[in-house]
Amino acid sequence: MEKEILEKYKKAGEIAKTVREEGRKLVKPGVKILEIAEKVENRIKELGGIPAWPLNISINEISAHYSPSQDDETTVKEGDVVKLDVGVAVDGYVADTASTVALSEKDKKLVEASEKALEEAIKLVKPGRDVNEISAKIEEIIKSFDLKPITNLTGHGLEQYTVHSEPRVPNYKSDYSHILEEGEVIAIEPFVTRGRNYITEEDEDRGLSYSLVQIKPCRLREARQIIEAMKERKGLPFSERWTNIKGIKLKLAMRELKDRGCIGTHRILRGDSKISQAEHTIIVLDEPIVTTR
Ligand code: CO
Repeated sequence: MEKEILEKYKKAGEIAKTVREEGRKLVKPGVKILEIAEKVENRIKELGGIPAWPLNISINEISAHYSPSQDDETTVKEGDVVKLDVGVAVDGYVADTASTVALSEKDKKLVEASEKALEEAIKLVKPGRDVNEISAKIEEIIKSFDLKPITNLTGHGLEQYTVHSEPRVPNYKSDYSHILEEGEVIAIEPFVTRGRNYITEEDEDRGLSYSLVQIKPCRLREARQIIEAMKERKGLPFSERWTNIKGIKLKLAMRELKDRGCIGTHRILRGDSKISQAEHTIIVLDEPIVTTR
């Protein structure tokens, strides 16, 4: 990997780590998740990055893809399991990291299992390693806690302006095989539950995090403005919170963009019981670099 690119990955990782830890401290009963999202995203910019996606704050049985809308009233409640999934891009080079705050004592084990699985998995990362061995280790650790890995959410590769690429890193031993190569960048993210071991996508189109699918002429000026703002993201997901369009105008513009097939929603993913997640980004080298630790 070129030195310049390596430095960008490292910088993104450093920022992501800082804001993840600051974000964790904000997770307290009564706090609006909208406030957490805005604070974390502003800090990313202050520190010299951009959010690689809208901060995901997924609570309890929601595993991923929940990001507050601009009028979201959701607050953190006593006993919640709150996952912060942070993405930071520096010139498109992404750091992806997640951490879970369990507000009740009885859920601490869920968090411990995802963290331990992640740490043990990272120890196996090196060029020449089959990711299936890493997956098997993740499954083994989670099961040693008498808990289950979510099988249809996986770790993944990262590339410039691309937040999910090959290889995958499943959270259980599967038929998937990929030999890690020097210079690959991967995110490993064990998801752990006591309940059903897979998640489903919500039917309702209320994802709150969007990607540009295709550019088509739009009737509403606000819809055209949003397309322009999304183009600048070069493929990275976008939040309606990042526009200065509000209320009904925003709703109509988003409706038109969806109806014309210009944007796709990252739909909310959920299981049937509380879920924890831990995630780091790793550059595969003889001495691997965990950019977000
Ligand atoms: Co990820």
